[in-house]
Amino acid sequence: MSSDSSKLTIVGSGAVGTSAAHWAVARNVAQEIILVDVVEGIPQGKAVDMSQSAPLCGFNGKVLGTCDYADTMNSDVVIITAGLARKPGMSREDLLLKNVQIVKQVTENIVAQSPNAVIVVVTNPIDAMVYTVFKVSGFPKNQVVGMAGVLDSARYRTFLAQALGVAPKDVTALVMGIHGDNMLPLTRLASVAGVPVEELLSRQELEKIVKRTQTGGGEIVQHLKTGSAFTTPGLCAIEMAQSVLWDEKRVLPCAAYLEGEFGISGVFLGVPVVLGRSGVERIVEFRLTEEERSALDDSVEAVKRQVAATGL
Ligand code: 2OP
Repeated sequence: MSSDSSKLTIVGSGAVGTSAAHWAVARNVAQEIILVDVVEGIPQGKAVDMSQSAPLCGFNGKVLGTCDYADTMNSDVVIITAGLARKPGMSREDLLLKNVQIVKQVTENIVAQSPNAVIVVVTNPIDAMVYTVFKVSGFPKNQVVGMAGVLDSARYRTFLAQALGVAPKDVTALVMGIHGDNMLPLTRLASVAGVPVEELLSRQELEKIVKRTQTGGGEIVQHLKTGSAFTTPGLCAIEMAQSVLWDEKRVLPCAAYLEGEFGISGVFLGVPVVLGRSGVERIVEFRLTEEERSALDDSVEAVKRQVAATGL
């Protein structure tokens, strides 16, 4: 149940922002849902459309579309989706320089209105954008978190469930590291109702699933040609926002700022975190095998290259 005064802002009314707002309404996640964009008319029209779902899905709050950040004042959670999306042949890194500028500006506007908000960053390349928000906002590390692991893990769980012919919700699995081809879908820790998948699928089958997970975003870009995934990315952002707004303390893989956890410092990286009312309340650390550690180190190097390219 959402609390009475909860306010969720979603910046960017493109495909991912619209999906996030849609899921927020469908889940009745906050009392106020504010959709912001720079293009006059788009957030307004989409908000009016979404507000008309209320009688059908039981949404009791208010949805507002706006170009004015004053309307976002005192948001509890802000999801940043603003930025360009990938086109075929484009890596997430190609987007970097353009999106750094957009995300910087958005962050300044958000901070001026909502100094206590938890910011969930979705804009790609996520691991560099979440760092950008952290630097520009000056917020403590618990208030800034990146969405990627929830999406990558959802893809991994879906592919495992399809291979096993079981209900996706009974598959538990964790993807750590960068949101890119060096991400680390852990096979050792994936299970179906507690049974390790390594006992149910062959090494070759698991390798194929790991590969498909690592390139899961690109697979969708290849199909769509004019953009990237949006339905599930929007839901993943709301899964995280809900855990904060409702103080659920879900354990979700998110890009969090590391200060010594897993032996890594000074970068945002996908790790399991406890998400509650104050944002990232804890990072859940555990022992990695040597192979996992070396894969995670590759992720860290890739994230550091991205961050260096932001010039921050
Ligand atoms: C994805 O993985 C858009 O990066 C996002 O689909």
